Amino acid sequence: MEQLMKDFFLFLSKNKTLNAAAKKWGLRFGASRVVAGETIAEAINTVRQLNQKGLVCTLDHLGEFVYSVEEANESADYCIKTLEAIHQSGVDCNLSLKMTQLGLDISRELCMNNMRRILDAAKKNGNIFVRIDMEDYAHNEVTLEILDELLQDYDNVGTVIQAYLYKSADDIEKLKEKKVNLRLVKGAYKESPEVAFPNKADVDENYKKIIKQHLLNGCYAAIATHDDNIIAYVKQLEKEYNIPRTQFEFQMLYGIRPQSQVELAREGYKMRVYVPYGNDWYGYFMRRLAERPANVAFVIKGLFSK
Ligand code: FDA
Repeated sequence: MEQLMKDFFLFLSKNKTLNAAAKKWGLRFGASRVVAGETIAEAINTVRQLNQKGLVCTLDHLGEFVYSVEEANESADYCIKTLEAIHQSGVDCNLSLKMTQLGLDISRELCMNNMRRILDAAKKNGNIFVRIDMEDYAHNEVTLEILDELLQDYDNVGTVIQAYLYKSADDIEKLKEKKVNLRLVKGAYKESPEVAFPNKADVDENYKKIIKQHLLNGCYAAIATHDDNIIAYVKQLEKEYNIPRTQFEFQMLYGIRPQSQVELAREGYKMRVYVPYGNDWYGYFMRRLAERPANVAFVIKGLFSK
């Protein structure tokens, strides 16, 4: 049943008609529990409140299914405005974004130009770090290629490696030389068993494997999970191999396990909250429901509250 619900929400997450309609609805169905608002001002306000609790943040201006040059450029402009707002407000925060948002499905050149504009703005506004989120498998290799090219000119960029892909350990080995700052996750998209572990237990095992591999390679790791077993494993690695706390951070999503986020910060770990904002919340929200169909209860409540 749970698997059926997961597949259902992942299927819904790709529905372009609902995605387009949702932009006009405002934050509905309980989405405001996991999305920080629709404007930059609301997002910065949330980040400030999280900073006051000892949490650092990464802001993500939500955007998917971008198929026109204008939309892609507008999305990049939004990222730049977000960087300026981070710098001007003085909050402790960096930026996360997606390649398809910047026009990757239109042309690689368009996406690359937008990415360079953003990284230049990030440098200008206090050398803010920019993380390229990893999307589905169809975009994986090209995202890694773009990163490789960008690393020749920028040191404020990194990406994400997904433990569910068979290729992840090899990718980490390839990125070792360049000491890339990587976010390590289990993986959020529906992938074929030809490219990804179909069983959760195998994903969890591979997740541990790549975390250890990347940390022992001496590279910076952002371990992005809500899974207590994985967090305990990282703490165990820290002790066993004397890994300095400056070499890694934990990350969780806004609105998910907020108490655990504060507790990790109190224990002295760097804890970064991924804070999405904007009116293109639909796909993001559906993927969060797919991860935890139990949360559908707050959708039902949301149906009646707004
Ligand atoms: P998992 O889903 O196995 O859950 C383990 C436990 O965590 C659960 O049993 C429960 O206790 C708790 N939990 C999990 N989700 C919860 C929820 N919604 N509410 C309450 N408790 C919950 N993916 C991707 O493909 N590309 C990317 O770029 C990113 N980026 C990213 C950034 C950040 C900061 C995070 C935290 C995650 C991502 N992800 C991602 C998503 C990631 O791949 C994965 O789908 C989710 O984090 C869910 O996996 P967990 O590791 O949390 O464990």
